[in-house]
Amino acid sequence: MQTYGKVFSGVYNTMWAGFAERLGPLVHRFYASTLVGRENEHILDLCCGTGHLAVYLLRQGYRVVGLDLSEHMLRYARENAASYVNSGQGLFLQDDATRFSLDERFGLVVSTFDSLNHLEDMQALRHCFERVHAVCDGYFVFDLNTRGGLLRSNNVHIDDSDREFFLVNRGVFDTQTDTALSRISGFVRTGDEYYERFEETIRSTAFELRVFVIATVAGRDAPDREGKR
Ligand SMILES: C[S@@+](CC[C@H](N)C(=O)[O-])C[C@H]1O[C@@H](n2cnc3c(N)ncnc32)[C@H](O)[C@@H]1O
Repeated sequence: MQTYGKVFSGVYNTMWAGFAERLGPLVHRFYASTLVGRENEHILDLCCGTGHLAVYLLRQGYRVVGLDLSEHMLRYARENAASYVNSGQGLFLQDDATRFSLDERFGLVVSTFDSLNHLEDMQALRHCFERVHAVCDGYFVFDLNTRGGLLRSNNVHIDDSDREFFLVNRGVFDTQTDTALSRISGFVRTGDEYYERFEETIRSTAFELRVFVIATVAGRDAPDREGKR
């Protein structure tokens, strides 16, 4: 289970919003082109993080529920979408993508920026699909990093390009467990002369594509990692 901490969530909110913002128009264009998209304006943003995709979709007039495990990420999401939260068009809930249940039904469920890689194994992924299946009347659109992509994070990256942050990202990929660990540490400016230190370890699972495709198609009856049901 992956929860993003307080300081790291602030870094994420400032540094990594761009991905979700670039994705917004693509998701909107896709969903608006579908039959269910013309009839059902309810969207669930699973693992919504700081809510940047949710805000884009709220601006297009959709009702959006964002769900995330991290209270700190959710605090930014609620701030970023404050006017929509106040009007009731947007709602952000703390819950686990593998266990949640909601009374509301959605025409579209989205999960972006490798969020599902945070699930620890195939069983957790299957539980997540079951939960999505239980609330979704249309499409589940998600992205996933591949083993090849995660292998590329097997290095050290230093980012000192911005006066507000200093980041060191140490990535290790364990081929035995198909798991990538990124240890991101650094400093964030909190005042004129002050920086606060933070450290976050992010775990990502590389799901085998063949099994994953079966799981995606099969939904509720997906096999586990060894192919057993
Ligand atoms: C890489 S961020 C992506 C955030 C957002 N979707 C975006 O595109 O910017 C991954 C998010 O997944 C959340 N997360 C990880 N495991 C989760 C789980 N089991 N249930 C719900 N949220 C989870 C983290 O708290 C984090 O906000």
